[in-house]
Amino acid sequence: MLVSAKEMLEKAVEGHYAVGQFNINNLEWTKAILLTAQECNSPVILGVSEGAGKYMTGFKTVADMVKAMIDELKITVPVALHLDHGSYEGCQKCIEAGFSSIMFDGSHYPIEENVAKTKELVETCKKLGLSLEAEVGSIGGEEDGVIGQGECADPGECKQVADLGVDMLAAGIGNIHGKYPANWAGLSFETLDAIQQLTGKLPLVLHGGTGIPEDMIKKAIDLGVAKINVNTECQLSFADATRKYIEAGKDLEGKGFDPRKLLKPGTEAIMKTVKEKMELFGSVDRA
Ligand code: 13P
Repeated sequence: MLVSAKEMLEKAVEGHYAVGQFNINNLEWTKAILLTAQECNSPVILGVSEGAGKYMTGFKTVADMVKAMIDELKITVPVALHLDHGSYEGCQKCIEAGFSSIMFDGSHYPIEENVAKTKELVETCKKLGLSLEAEVGSIGGEEDGVIGQGECADPGECKQVADLGVDMLAAGIGNIHGKYPANWAGLSFETLDAIQQLTGKLPLVLHGGTGIPEDMIKKAIDLGVAKINVNTECQLSFADATRKYIEAGKDLEGKGFDPRKLLKPGTEAIMKTVKEKMELFGSVDRA
């Protein structure tokens, strides 16, 4: 079922767990994540960056593929199709293409402009029944050309954006896209706590889910995080399993070069990673 992320995240806040957003890149990724969500009886959010949308030939291809796959694979758990770090124009395109959820990342604008643009999108999304994620502060590192300095969000600004009626809020709390450097200072729970005090039950989003230690993930969920984004970790699992297959010379045995065989170990590795994350986030059997 393709649904907005609103209800699944409200339930996550009530139940003290988090729903995973797993970014997709192609058919294998999408299939692996959908099948794992069904197997785990877990709600799931499929994230699509603007770069990945372009790679898959456009948001319409993505939306049509996801809808058809939900149907053909008989997926009954709630699935949201969500634009990740969208520009204002990207949001409009995804709304037209049939996404059920969007993120408007206005964090690089001055707060007044971020608020004004987010406000406009709140109205559009409410009318259409889509969920909307906003961002304050920034996520460090780089993801598909979106670069952030990693500054912690100002709790007062978070409240300002929360009051617009967004469905979820990504706030920079020292998190980083991609691998964490050895000298990473960790998440700022002080900032997260202050944000939650001001935003109440609004589902908070933790980006940069790859490589955050388990105890920090659990503490973040305790402090109101209800959505956790994972991208790089699935890419690393896929690459690692594919490398092992090729290094073992399996692509040269029989028809091991057939893409259905060549991509299978990587696809299974994504499934394993997604399952581990769903167990850690506590979303298993919450569909
Ligand atoms: P990672 O690639 O670090 O897992 O971050 C994913 C993310 O935050 C997507 O927006």
